[in-house]
Amino acid sequence: MPMGFKEVSSATIFCLLLLFCLGCRCLASELVTSQAATLNVDASPQSARKIPETLFGIFFEEINHAGAGGIWAELVSNRGFEAGGPHTPSNIDPWSIIGDDSSVFVATDRTSCFSRNIVALRMEVLCDDCPTGGVGIYNPGFWGMNIEDGKAYNLVMYVKSPETTDLTVSLTSSDGLQNLASTTITVSGTSNWTKVEQKLVANGTNRTSRLQITTNKKGVVWFDQVSLMPEDTYKGHGFRTELISMLLDLKPRFLRFPGGCFVEGDWLRNAFRWRESIGPWEERPGHFGDVWHYWTDDGLGYYEFLQLAEDLGAAPIWVFNNGVSHNDEVDTAAIAPFVKDVLDSLEFARGSADSTWGSVRAAMGHPEPFPVKYVAIGNEDCGKKIYRGNYLKFYNAIRQAYPDIQMISNCDGSSRPLDHPADLYDFHVYTDSKTLFNMRSTFDSTSRSGPKAFVSEYAVWRSDAGRGSLLASLAEAAFLTGLEKNSDIVQMASYAPLFVNDNDRTLVFMG
Ligand SMILES: *[C@@H]1O[C@H](CO)[C@@H](O)[C@H](O)[C@H]1NC(C)=O
Ligand SMILES: *[C@@H]1O[C@H](CO)[C@@H](O)[C@H](O)[C@H]1NC(C)=O
Ligand SMILES: *[C@@H]1O[C@H](CO)[C@@H](O)[C@H](O)[C@H]1NC(C)=O
Repeated sequence: MPMGFKEVSSATIFCLLLLFCLGCRCLASELVTSQAATLNVDASPQSARKIPETLFGIFFEEINHAGAGGIWAELVSNRGFEAGGPHTPSNIDPWSIIGDDSSVFVATDRTSCFSRNIVALRMEVLCDDCPTGGVGIYNPGFWGMNIEDGKAYNLVMYVKSPETTDLTVSLTSSDGLQNLASTTITVSGTSNWTKVEQKLVANGTNRTSRLQITTNKKGVVWFDQVSLMPEDTYKGHGFRTELISMLLDLKPRFLRFPGGCFVEGDWLRNAFRWRESIGPWEERPGHFGDVWHYWTDDGLGYYEFLQLAEDLGAAPIWVFNNGVSHNDEVDTAAIAPFVKDVLDSLEFARGSADSTWGSVRAAMGHPEPFPVKYVAIGNEDCGKKIYRGNYLKFYNAIRQAYPDIQMISNCDGSSRPLDHPADLYDFHVYTDSKTLFNMRSTFDSTSRSGPKAFVSEYAVWRSDAGRGSLLASLAEAAFLTGLEKNSDIVQMASYAPLFVNDNDRTLVFMG
């Protein structure tokens, strides 16, 4: 986990004390002979500025397994066997077999009952006299599943078996030796897919556990959409409670999501698509996030992000793709379907339960609209030559359909006025401690007219901050004092990235 505001603020206090001491060149003895000091606070309306309610929020990006293998509680990785994509149908990673090649053979095929994620796993058991404990498959989750004593886990999977078969599902240690929970399910022989649901209660704890599915019976069984969720998630919404409680402690006033470069993709075909991330989880195709190099089943989708914002009491800020990725882009002349797609996403969030897309939201369990009041038109795309053309198409369509929605431009308006209309502009900074420290005065002299600033990503980068250092905290805290001081023009600020799974500290972007 990267530094949160909590750490920053405690570090600030410490640093201020440190600075004070260094400044006075004080010695312990001098501290004891305390001198009287007067602190004058000028809180007159002319010099004091009211800090906007929205100033401090959070930015959640699917980076470093912050979502999949992070805040989203799903324990199975690649639950639909889609991670290889339809073009490389043998990649079932990180699933693996129990037994050897002569006793069990697995391969994917395109026989799923779900048309949008057609890949399923076919398992052929070859042994007549299988080893004790059987043969089968296992999923290690995201670097092991944290299975805890006494806790319940809900298994859901889709199975097809032409002959009646007993399947043993277990939670075991990573070597399979420690059995934490186990039960046998009889699947009756049919040519149809069957949905199996089973609760498993752990007897023992092992934080690097795996899910096993084994059998002793020769024959063929197909699997698809194998999910294991802890029964206890925040409000039953699928989020890990201990991570949500950290976010609640930050009291975020907004949630910017789902990225970042995750929104853009290296290629448009790998960008986040809200439409593919809603509806029943079993039917979501998932996608390969090519910028941060991992697959996500999209269990944490557009709906779940809106739900997260609601659960945190934070204003949702939806960053959508504006037809631009890192390597390809949609020409302004052809952007209309993208604009329609974004209008649909807003109807999904805000439309009444009987509107076309609002009804999909209602069917997912949220008849009340989600109050989306901010959208960002792209991420870091100002330098792209078609940005302004595309931007205006989105801006005009959204302004007309939702006059109250505040729109965020990717073009930095702190140094010169924007050449296009916007309510806010993004300001991103990743740099070394010294530079960020000095940037505490950046907003002192920016124009007071025009759109407000949204410092939507800031951090001292890794080469300087490591896993968090006093110097980096001091620089970030100093930068924040500059934002507070200029909060007549700085409307919002969020640190990046919010979460890092220790097993995937990619962070290439952070230097
Ligand atoms: C968890 O399983 C591993 C083997 O995968 C074992 O080395 C470790 O001791 C187990 N931990 C506990 C707490 O039993
Ligand atoms: C398979 O499903 C179809 C449609 O749901 C149903 O009509 C049929 O009876 C099922 N077959 C078996 C063998 O269960
Ligand atoms: C739980 O595991 C312990 C050994 O660790 C065993 O003695 C006990 O019988 C198990 N309980 C259940 C309900 O399986």
